[in-house]
Amino acid sequence: MSKFPIKEFESQSTPFYYYDMELLRNTLDAIKTAAPDSCFHVHYAIKANANSLVIREIAKAGFGVDCVSEGEIRAALNAGFPSSKIVFAGVGKGDSEIDFALDNDIECFNVESIPELQLIQEMASVKDKIANVALRVNPNIDAHTHHYITTGLEENKFGIALEMLHEAVDFCLKNPNLRLVGLHFHIGSQITVTEPFKILCERINTLVDQYKKLGVEFRMINVGGGLGIDYDDPDGHPIPDFKSYFDVFRENLRLDATQQVHFELGRSIVGQCGSLITKVRYIKEGVKKKFVIVDAGMTDLIRPALYQAHHLIQNITSQSSETEVYDVVGPICESSDCFGMEETLPVTRRGDLLAIRSAGAYGEIMASQYNCRNLPGSIVL
Ligand code: LLP
Repeated sequence: MSKFPIKEFESQSTPFYYYDMELLRNTLDAIKTAAPDSCFHVHYAIKANANSLVIREIAKAGFGVDCVSEGEIRAALNAGFPSSKIVFAGVGKGDSEIDFALDNDIECFNVESIPELQLIQEMASVKDKIANVALRVNPNIDAHTHHYITTGLEENKFGIALEMLHEAVDFCLKNPNLRLVGLHFHIGSQITVTEPFKILCERINTLVDQYKKLGVEFRMINVGGGLGIDYDDPDGHPIPDFKSYFDVFRENLRLDATQQVHFELGRSIVGQCGSLITKVRYIKEGVKKKFVIVDAGMTDLIRPALYQAHHLIQNITSQSSETEVYDVVGPICESSDCFGMEETLPVTRRGDLLAIRSAGAYGEIMASQYNCRNLPGSIVL
């Protein structure tokens, strides 16, 4: 089990997120080592975690950032990301959000529809600015991940369908306040095999070739995010295999000398450095089961309830060598408020601290106040 600074935890009120900054720094270094190519640029998908201390570290390491709202752009600017490294994505950008992004001269808008292009053109023209635009293409690829986090299929709301891309490209070329710089793709999240990324590369090659013949060149290809992490064995694989991931693109994307590739990684950057720390309130004997009732709930970490995700649960207090089988549940009035069924843990008692692992991505940021609960705190060490 990885070492937790239990002493520091004792004075904290639970539940809270603990971020291991050394692991985050090592992860950022691993990405730089795996992708030294001058044409590769990583934009951190800030939707995964916008904790100010976490994102400051990522900004400091020189990464760009992928935002999907004005709030995220503001958080990124506050953390020190330069506006020239901010890309703004999202299927439903608001007028005031586009206005804010134009005023801040962000790097690029990832655009998902023709009506959105029209609005950006109008607003940029009023400001006498030229907006860099990448068109998000829906490549119709099955990423074989949970259906809530697969995004590149025809039936998903995301991106411009291949059949309609022509019209969008044309619109950009005809409108003077839009500069078409590239194409954007994102096929899904928590992808743990390389095949979908290889298929993505093939689709991209075909599209880029088609447009080259028509005299349209894309200087930037954004392949989105999606690299998964090992939820079952966070200590065995604390840092994802970035080398194999980048190799897929290195080996399969046909690039010319001037083309840049953008990656928008979220989970793989912050997932493993975060744990949700929660205290055991009661051990409850059921007729057939024993329940460990903890003070964290689905309001603090919604992934198990929403995606049937499983996060490794460890008792970081108990020294007992005897084990018991428990269902680990929270205090919220929903049966889906369950972190794990039939978990084998050391004999657990009221007051013990449990770590719910691999919770750095889509954990704290997705917390809610359902049941009028407080939001979880955080400590960053
Ligand atoms: N780029 C775009 C356009 C995205 O929609 C996403 C994630 C990313 C990049 C970052 O993907 P990542 O590298 O983190 O897989 N809440 C869900 C995940 C939702 C992902 C949404 N989009 C979860 O907890 O599994």
